[in-house]
Amino acid sequence: MMKAPLVFGIGQCSLDHLGLVAAYPPPDVKCEFTNLLLQGGGPAATALVALKRWGARCHIAGVLGDDGFGTQIKALLDAEGLDTSGLQIRKQHQSQFAFIASEPALARRTIFYQMPTGEPLRPEEINTGILLSSQALHTDGLFTEASLFACRKAKAAGIPVIVDAGTLRDGMLEMAKMSDCFVTSEVFSNAFAETPAETCRKLAGMGVRLAGVTLGKRGYVALVDGRFIEKEAYPAKAIDTTGCGDVFHAGLIHGILHGWSPEKCLDLGAWAAARVSEQMGGRSGIPDIHALQLKYSDGMNR
Ligand SMILES: Nc1ncnc2c1ncn2[C@@H]1O[C@H](COP(=O)(O)OP(=O)(O)OP(=O)(O)O)[C@@H](O)[C@H]1O
Ligand SMILES: [Mg+2]
Repeated sequence: MMKAPLVFGIGQCSLDHLGLVAAYPPPDVKCEFTNLLLQGGGPAATALVALKRWGARCHIAGVLGDDGFGTQIKALLDAEGLDTSGLQIRKQHQSQFAFIASEPALARRTIFYQMPTGEPLRPEEINTGILLSSQALHTDGLFTEASLFACRKAKAAGIPVIVDAGTLRDGMLEMAKMSDCFVTSEVFSNAFAETPAETCRKLAGMGVRLAGVTLGKRGYVALVDGRFIEKEAYPAKAIDTTGCGDVFHAGLIHGILHGWSPEKCLDLGAWAAARVSEQMGGRSGIPDIHALQLKYSDGMNR
């Protein structure tokens, strides 16, 4: 039997605390929330969880603190079957934390977060042996130096590089030059160019083969080999959009691993993300492998 593909991920590993609020409050009030949920989060980590559930092997590299949150973040990733040997535990530091207030009526969420307080991941902490035996590298760009190091190695070895560009941080554009697939959030796009189409054009000009921008419930725009692909989001009974972008990227990576067309990769991303929006947290709504196989058993099947 052929070995399952291996995805090497670098980036944020968070412990998300989510709650539902009827409407986001003005300052200086007491605001009751319901449906408290604790769940692992972070763009790279959640994308890898989806890919693992869809049959890939996944290695995650990132930074935790030696606090209770870190223990839970790692335990949740271990329980999913990820290889967490790339997680570095910084002594006397705090792990990444988020509190997310979701307004189900508007499918809008507000995130308060603290980044891991420990030293960022260092290039020498990347397990190059595992990286070079992987079939894809995925980074959310948080650990700039380590990500750039891994991108260079992957690019030189012909391993596809996929970047989830949520925020226009230092080093992101250098990463773009080495990536095959670079899909940004609307926040990134607004900071980078006048329009999403312009963002795609600029990224394509830097050598990105599949350049795209996700636009929440308005869908996405992508530019592949000089061709624009623009699609609306899948209809969804959205209550919490946490993780939609993360799982959209998982869809792209799954498609790339299986040699799918760019249209089909994007379609899987959008379909899986729509399902994620229907549950609280980034991981509860990830469609399982059977649903995925059923959906794509017969061509596009949209
Ligand atoms: N309300 C929604 N209904 C259906 N699909 C959605 C909805 N929100 C998001 N999606 C799908 O998920 C994709 C990614 O969402 P979005 O653009 O919000 O990601 P993001 O900005 O990276 O956010 P995050 O990183 O917090 O998930 C969209 O392109 C769309 O296909
Ligand atoms: Mg995102």
